[in-house]
Amino acid sequence: DKVLGIEGTAWNLSAAVFGDGLISLYSKPYQPASGGIHPREAAQHHASEMREVIARVLTAPDEIEAVAFSQGPGLGPCLRTVATAARALALALDVPLVGVNHCVAHVEIGRWATGCVDPITLYTSGANTQVFGYLNGRYRIFGETLDIGLGNGLDKFARSKGLPHPGGPKIEALARGGNYIDLPYTVKGMDLAFSGLISAAQESTAPIEDVCHSLQETAFAMCVEVTERALAQAGKDEVLLVGGVAANTRLREMLRTMCEERGARLFVPEPQFCGDNGAMIAYTGKIMLEAGATLPVEASRANSHYRTDEVEVVWRHGDER
Ligand code: ATP
Ligand code: FE2
Repeated sequence: DKVLGIEGTAWNLSAAVFGDGLISLYSKPYQPASGGIHPREAAQHHASEMREVIARVLTAPDEIEAVAFSQGPGLGPCLRTVATAARALALALDVPLVGVNHCVAHVEIGRWATGCVDPITLYTSGANTQVFGYLNGRYRIFGETLDIGLGNGLDKFARSKGLPHPGGPKIEALARGGNYIDLPYTVKGMDLAFSGLISAAQESTAPIEDVCHSLQETAFAMCVEVTERALAQAGKDEVLLVGGVAANTRLREMLRTMCEERGARLFVPEPQFCGDNGAMIAYTGKIMLEAGATLPVEASRANSHYRTDEVEVVWRHGDER
């Protein structure tokens, strides 16, 4: 089966076709003129670029057997634009719709890309920071941010210091030359909170290299702690790191050290499958279609608060080995 997938929950409009493997993938990111993402401007971008992005990947429309789209979570206006396009395409091609949860799709493409089977996933991106793992038919959330996603926090800090967007890579570069200073570390139970840490970093008068270094050390140690406890609680031995912040070398190093100490293995997909991409929606759409999980048009409304653990995992999972 070949499935067309459309992703557009935030800044990246991306589409792909997945068959026996990835057939085509094309992305057209929205670049804000200044500051962060403006949801309505991003949605406007998606609407204007939709035709081209779809045309680039859809070389053989009659071979498509379903249209998958990211139904949520994400920015409302962006999700509605994508859902509208998906409905129109499914109607035109006379094929079923598949509504894909964005967070679940990150895990499924990560499993496909790395070969891990049953991981604890640390998904940390602009808007999201979540730790989840498969238990009894669902991806259960072990812990998550109580306020902002780590990526958005890093970007906010960077903006306040006059660094260009996105802030993550700049902070990583500056952090290499820094020394450790104390910043607030907030893990509450299994959940994380970043806004106090970000404000303290913004207000710090220490050299920028020291603040960047310590911001990374603190935020990543918080993520590693929750991931480690989830591994122990669930009794698993694989960790999958996904989301835009996965690009960070120091985060990978800290996770790898923790995994080695526990006899677990760390998996990180190649960059094109770490950030938001159409392939993750097309692939998850395909395994959902094969399990019969299609969506009637009446149920295809965008859901900006779609939770990872609302999805019943009806496709094959974890019994592969
Ligand atoms: P979401 O996936 O939640 O919808 P998004 O589209 O903003 O959000 P991604 O594209 O996955 O998310 O990630 C973008 C984020 O990743 C930005 O906040 C950026 O600063 C961060 N990022 C990118 N590279 C690095 C890096 N090397 N170190 C830390 N953060 C990074
Ligand atoms: Fe994402």
